[in-house]
Amino acid sequence: LSVDASSQNARKIPDKMFGIFFEEINHAGAGGLWAELVSNRGFEAGGPNTPSNIDPWVIIGNESSIIVGTDRTSCFERNPVALRMEVLCGSKGTDACPSGGVGVYNPGYWGMNIERRKVYKVTLHIRSSDAVSLSVSLTSSDGLRKLASHTITGSKKQFAKWTKIEFHLKSSQNNTNSRLQLTTSRSGVIWLDQVSVMPFDTYMGHGFRKDLASMLANLKPQFLKFPGGNYAMGNYLRNAFQWSETVGSWEERPGHFNDVWGYWTDDGLGFFEFLQLAEDLGASPVWVVNDGASQNEEVSTATIASLVKDVVDGIEFARGGPNTTWGSVRAAMGHPEPFKLDYVSIGNQECWMLYYRGNYQKFYSAIKAAYPGINVISSCDKSTISPSNPADLYDVHVYASSSDMFSRTSMFDNTPRSGPKVCSNAILRWLYLICMLRISTPRNDFGSSMARQAIVSEYAVTGDDAGKGTLVAALAEAAFLVGLEKNSDVVEMASCAPLFVNDNDRRWSPDAIVFNSWQNYGCPNYWMLHFFKDSSGAMLHPSSVQISNYDQLVASAITWQSSQDKSSHLKIKVVNFGSKAVDLNISVSGLENGIKSSGSKKTVLTSSGALDENSFQQPQKVAPVSSPIDNAMQQMGVSLGPYSLTSFDLLL
Ligand code: AHR
Repeated sequence: LSVDASSQNARKIPDKMFGIFFEEINHAGAGGLWAELVSNRGFEAGGPNTPSNIDPWVIIGNESSIIVGTDRTSCFERNPVALRMEVLCGSKGTDACPSGGVGVYNPGYWGMNIERRKVYKVTLHIRSSDAVSLSVSLTSSDGLRKLASHTITGSKKQFAKWTKIEFHLKSSQNNTNSRLQLTTSRSGVIWLDQVSVMPFDTYMGHGFRKDLASMLANLKPQFLKFPGGNYAMGNYLRNAFQWSETVGSWEERPGHFNDVWGYWTDDGLGFFEFLQLAEDLGASPVWVVNDGASQNEEVSTATIASLVKDVVDGIEFARGGPNTTWGSVRAAMGHPEPFKLDYVSIGNQECWMLYYRGNYQKFYSAIKAAYPGINVISSCDKSTISPSNPADLYDVHVYASSSDMFSRTSMFDNTPRSGPKVCSNAILRWLYLICMLRISTPRNDFGSSMARQAIVSEYAVTGDDAGKGTLVAALAEAAFLVGLEKNSDVVEMASCAPLFVNDNDRRWSPDAIVFNSWQNYGCPNYWMLHFFKDSSGAMLHPSSVQISNYDQLVASAITWQSSQDKSSHLKIKVVNFGSKAVDLNISVSGLENGIKSSGSKKTVLTSSGALDENSFQQPQKVAPVSSPIDNAMQQMGVSLGPYSLTSFDLLL
């Protein structure tokens, strides 16, 4: 394996090369990254017509002691459904309520993880026809053991109108399968709405589950694409993610049915929170907008104008000053400074649809007119780009078997490097001629897009040997990413899909991170991504593998500098996708000061079986193992195990 580590022949990998793609799939957000513990907190999941299904809320008591239903008497305009509990027991002349009282409980998303000594912020809205004595408690799954409790009491007058109540509960015990109970032993009618339990301790205090957000941060993602995927489109437009319905106070968010992946989301993780998450991770937000297409419908170009305006408004929400119409909404949510939204993707993957290109151009023109600096991403491939169909980036989705994915290490090798680039601005169309003459023009020189690069925003190995996240799938993806590094003059960004799965609601396999209410683990491809986390903005060096009768190796070499201690590193990654162990001579040339004699290390991702996976029981079965390299040198003999990804991190 020869590596030319000289600076003359190196090329910079784009700063935003490796990022993450978050889709609300598999309860990734609701019941996942978003730390809210109550499911269906506003009682809206059953639909706007009442009485409705209150699932997953469950009634405590029988028909002779309590009647529970919904009506439309909420104090929240955009969110009208409220829970109505008519307590029949506990008044003079009737039976006393059963011990422990009657009411409702919410099991959260397959059980609430309540931790000893941790504090939980409870918010609820209440109205009553009588004096109130309502016990709010976190309990074991059978309701018998109380972990923390608070009683709301008040006179008839006090609760005659909707009243917001907030308090903290501190748990005395650990319980990974808890529930929230609201019970009373007093007759009367009580209405409840917008009932929330949030752990106090969330990632950067912004509502993200700490363990899961930390797993994202550990990848050092350079961008965060959101909110989907097909989720951004919906099966029907009425169920698509609509950004403006997901901002403002959480109590006023209507929530919506994620009809693509089959569950309700309260939209606690809304547009603002996605932007906040990107900021907290140090990643550039990439917003996938609904372009008027769902899986089953399309808005025609003649009628797309209101959707275009809605997207421009959304950009104003993110980027506008605090005195703009939508920027002021963001400022009122606690973020007066604009978010750095520089990428907007027009739709998900619907280039094939009838109106896509016509609609795309409307979005493109309106966005560029209002925000010339925004990079607009097209769902169409490179071949469709022309002066009349301009784009800054084109989106590529790659789903393949592991052998196919491995072979796609060369997918972009033949992408044209020269030739016509795109001049997008109508006024400057004459410059297209210059482009045709191949006069290289730096990107955005004219305030318009002059270059076409790919964002591979969804890639994954799928199919039998992908399982729920196998080693071999991770290795194939590693080879694909090595190919992207090598082609990073034409590929600017990449992210895998999907990112998360709640093990209780697996809609898509495999996924990078698996969790339930209290546990998590990274699949082999999550760990594989760690091998690439220093690549964004690094220098790529020419490298080549010469080996006879074996075509299962791919390799790349980068140099990068640590932002912490400014140390310089040469990192050589080698994927061995085959079943043979390989002995390799590594030969590095072109280093000015050589390799330091100590401080270098080798990291290997492998396992005894190619189809091995991680699990809650064995979360680290397939995880990177590092060891020091003694006497690292420019000429080294190394051994690569079968089915392995190895990185040689050499200290310069
Ligand atoms: O990643 C899962 C799905 O695959 C996404 O929603 C969609 O964009 C793609 O087809």
